[in-house]
Amino acid sequence: MVVKEKKSLVSFLACSACNKIYPVDELQTFADCEECGKSPLLAQYELLDGITKAEIDTTERSMWRYREMLPVFEDENIVSLGEGWTPILKLDRLAKSMGLSFLTMKDESLNPTGSFKARGLSMAVSKAKELGVECCIIPTAGNAGGALSAYCAKAGMKAIVVMPRHTPEAFKKECRYFGADLIEVDGLISDCARKVAEIKATQDCFDISTMKEPYRLEGKKTMGYEIAEQMNWTLPDVILYPTGGGTGLIGMWKAFHEMRELGWIGEKFPRMIAVQSAVCNPIVRTWEGKQTNSSAYKGDATFANGLAVPNPFAEKLILNVLHESSGTAVDVTDDEIKNSMKEIAANEGLLICPEGAALLPALKKLLAEGIIDHSEKILFLNTGSAYKYL
Ligand SMILES: Cc1ncc(COP(=O)(O)O)c(C=O)c1O
Ligand SMILES: [Zn+2]
Repeated sequence: MVVKEKKSLVSFLACSACNKIYPVDELQTFADCEECGKSPLLAQYELLDGITKAEIDTTERSMWRYREMLPVFEDENIVSLGEGWTPILKLDRLAKSMGLSFLTMKDESLNPTGSFKARGLSMAVSKAKELGVECCIIPTAGNAGGALSAYCAKAGMKAIVVMPRHTPEAFKKECRYFGADLIEVDGLISDCARKVAEIKATQDCFDISTMKEPYRLEGKKTMGYEIAEQMNWTLPDVILYPTGGGTGLIGMWKAFHEMRELGWIGEKFPRMIAVQSAVCNPIVRTWEGKQTNSSAYKGDATFANGLAVPNPFAEKLILNVLHESSGTAVDVTDDEIKNSMKEIAANEGLLICPEGAALLPALKKLLAEGIIDHSEKILFLNTGSAYKYL
């Protein structure tokens, strides 16, 4: 039997604004181009001679089954705790009560450390390890800090986590169990980012801030690959996604484009819906034309702490996804989120994180406004578990 050597098809990184090329075999953060300023970097692959669907390693029951379309060169550098390949569950009781023909949820709560952040941090830590990094630092709303701490522990690397002080205790405790240095800051993730900049000035540590490092996106994009494969190479009509920094939204969209180039899926992509909290809704405000961008926006803390990202670095890319997909952005209140957690738990046996629970009231609004039709195939991307929030 010929054993196909697993190999990454990654070829370079490109500035998401001007396509300027940055090398993939050196440590990179974001594009800082003379012409276009600071923007996220996107990993590019040689997909034309890529692999076929039949060549996917289906014995690998994690996100690493898409090994060729991931950026890590050597298998020995992969830092994995079994992330990804999460189920798509049918929400039949909720669907029936709302008169919907197809309502499903990709359930990311089953990931290591209880959220989809595991995908991005597995990828970023693997690539950092491959490029010789020994210490990582992250500003976080909570879940990403826990995931970074876990993957750094597994990799034998140091982790420094900077988290808002108001974050529930379980988020802090898990970081400490994993051996990370935890620094608490009064304010939101944007204030944590300022603290990270201060620490980096005096300590040698690599900044894993979302979208300011190219590979968390590559981990999150595997959600898009999995949705297609699990739906037998079709896609839903609509995907609702709880949006903070937007990495999952941009990542899934990137995956759909890559799969189309690989010839794995057809032309029709889902409409992408960014769901935010009413007290921190920068994307909704820009989308609705209430501001030109979110650079001066100040949000408040929300129970859905992952949605409290007032100035997302990748705002332009998020808005591009909404435009290109004919999607939209919508916000919901903390009360709606709390009621939704109860409704989903009591009807479906799923105790999901507030960020994921925000999707149900958002869907109800969009159904009422006629933006989503009852006959459409709807998928909730639930990003995590509720247990750390209780
Ligand atoms: C549970 C949860 N959902 C959603 C988000 C937002 O994710 P993204 O930055 O990909 O938009 C976060 C981020 O902290 C989160 O922890
Ligand atoms: Zn550029």
